[in-house]
Amino acid sequence: MNRPVTLFGLVIVTCCLSITFALDNGLARTPPMGYDTWNFYHCNYDGETLMKTAKAMKDAGMLELGYEYIYPDDCWEAPERAPDGSLQPNPFKFPHGIKPVIDYIHSLGFKFGIYNCAGTRTCAGFPGSYGHYEQNAQQFADWGVDYIKFDWCNVPFWEFPGWSHEQVAQKLYSDFRDALNKTGRHIVFSMCNGWDPDVYPWRWASDVANLWRTTDDIADSYDVMRDRYEQNILHGSKAGPGHWNNPDMLEVGNGGMTTEEYITHFSLWSIMAAPLVIGTDVTNMTESTKMILTNKEVIDVDQDVLGVQGIRVKSDIAQDVVTKPLANGDVAIVLFSSNGPGVINTTIEQVRMPSYYDVYILRDLWTRQETTIRHFISAYVQGHGVKMYRIRPGKPQDAPPHHVIYFNPSPMMLTESPKRYGASLRIENVGASTMQHVDIQLHTSSQVKVVPLTAMKYDAIHEMEQVEVSWHFEVPSDKYSGSYPVSVTVSYTYPYAPFGAHLSETFNTSIDIPDLVQLGKEGTCHCSSS
Ligand SMILES: *[C@@H]1O[C@H](CO)[C@@H](O)[C@H](O)[C@H]1NC(C)=O
Ligand SMILES: *[C@@H]1O[C@H](CO)[C@@H](O)[C@H](O)[C@H]1NC(C)=O
Ligand SMILES: *[C@@H]1O[C@H](CO)[C@@H](O)[C@H](O)[C@H]1NC(C)=O
Ligand SMILES: *[C@@H]1O[C@H](CO)[C@@H](O)[C@H](O)[C@H]1NC(C)=O
Repeated sequence: MNRPVTLFGLVIVTCCLSITFALDNGLARTPPMGYDTWNFYHCNYDGETLMKTAKAMKDAGMLELGYEYIYPDDCWEAPERAPDGSLQPNPFKFPHGIKPVIDYIHSLGFKFGIYNCAGTRTCAGFPGSYGHYEQNAQQFADWGVDYIKFDWCNVPFWEFPGWSHEQVAQKLYSDFRDALNKTGRHIVFSMCNGWDPDVYPWRWASDVANLWRTTDDIADSYDVMRDRYEQNILHGSKAGPGHWNNPDMLEVGNGGMTTEEYITHFSLWSIMAAPLVIGTDVTNMTESTKMILTNKEVIDVDQDVLGVQGIRVKSDIAQDVVTKPLANGDVAIVLFSSNGPGVINTTIEQVRMPSYYDVYILRDLWTRQETTIRHFISAYVQGHGVKMYRIRPGKPQDAPPHHVIYFNPSPMMLTESPKRYGASLRIENVGASTMQHVDIQLHTSSQVKVVPLTAMKYDAIHEMEQVEVSWHFEVPSDKYSGSYPVSVTVSYTYPYAPFGAHLSETFNTSIDIPDLVQLGKEGTCHCSSS
């Protein structure tokens, strides 16, 4: 008889040794990195494109940075299977077959991936694997495939009466996992069914696949990218070595977002330990695209061997703080201002850094500048932008004190005659030493009269002190409109600075005076007669 043992009236439950079963193929111990044709080429690529991509990535040093798997997405296939049931490449795209392309890519040191589908046809209508799992898996293994993205279109649900999409997905993807295993070749298994709103792979896939989608497809727009982040961030506890959440491939470089937004995209994916799969034309990258995709310090955060997905520890009106512990005891954080610009504050405790050190170093992973802090982490973040830091213990003398300079970027009109505007700037020292010899200089057009309203030089701004400075500007009264550039430079030093060293930061803005004549003419009534 099995009766619970009771002790003092309490049921002792032997329970809940929590083990995550991970797919046991030894692969993807860190999030996979590589290249997928879809985001840039869709179906318009061929074997030549793949080889040129591999060559360009090799030349750009991307293989060494970890971008390892290169693969065609949908549309590599001929429209039908061969008479013996095998899959065949499109003869126009691969005139000599696919093998020479795979061999070339392997010869450069990359691994080769392939795309197929759990259903009868792929999403673009080419032969899918349904009914041929073992045959296709073996064929891929024979070709030397190292990675497979397995999609979820044209699934014959009618063959599973009464089953949910979730149950069918579990069965089919487990079958394909087994088919891959049976080949004996180590192939990274990337499930692509998380875009089906009735499938929740993060709940069950860690022993089925190495990665799974948590979202619908990404698109080259800030709003879509942000939405994919918002969904993926929720499933952090499900990710780890060998099994990763995938918010979809990178759009960096495709032109639909600003450089600042692509930096945000890449930073968020890295702090979430997301697969980093490039999807742009790497044979023709701009300097900024290359700069983003090859930022090793950011990639190191993604690829950290501890394998923890960043968690969101704060989310206030479009201001997020995401933190990720790293194997050497450092912590990486992203401060994300998803709407307008603003100051984001957090603390050492909040980002889950051990709090018993006196001083920490913040290393900005995009500017590579280091500053010291004691407790507060605070930064001005552009709208749609991020600050990404790596935090480690340190000493006050290691770097300048961390501070926030908030320059109100839109001067306000104070009086109309004379045309007088006001602007202000706040400097807050949250560092581990004093800011010394702080000198604030404002430059503008010679036509503008500048009147400081506060002191512009400070001997010291001590730790946790702030100063606020302001000016009046007067612009020529005979001018009805115009734009006057304004630039502010803050220079300072600190007690441990090398002798004579001055640090400085410059902020640019402009005073824009609307065309009053135009306003008078057109600005009278915007109302519709309803
Ligand atoms: C197949 O699965 C077994 C058991 O999980 C595992 O030990 C083995 O490494 C797998 N082989 C491949 C090629 O994935
Ligand atoms: C390279 O990219 C630029 C835009 O950055 C584009 O105008 C040009 O057409 C591209 N060249 C090729 C060969 O694709
Ligand atoms: C947060 O940042 C703002 C702007 O710098 C500052 O006024 C405020 O005191 C900060 N709060 C904390 C708790 O650091
Ligand atoms: C500010 O404007 C000056 C002069 O136009 C320019 O040299 C500098 O690069 C600008 N700085 C920033 C941070 O945009």
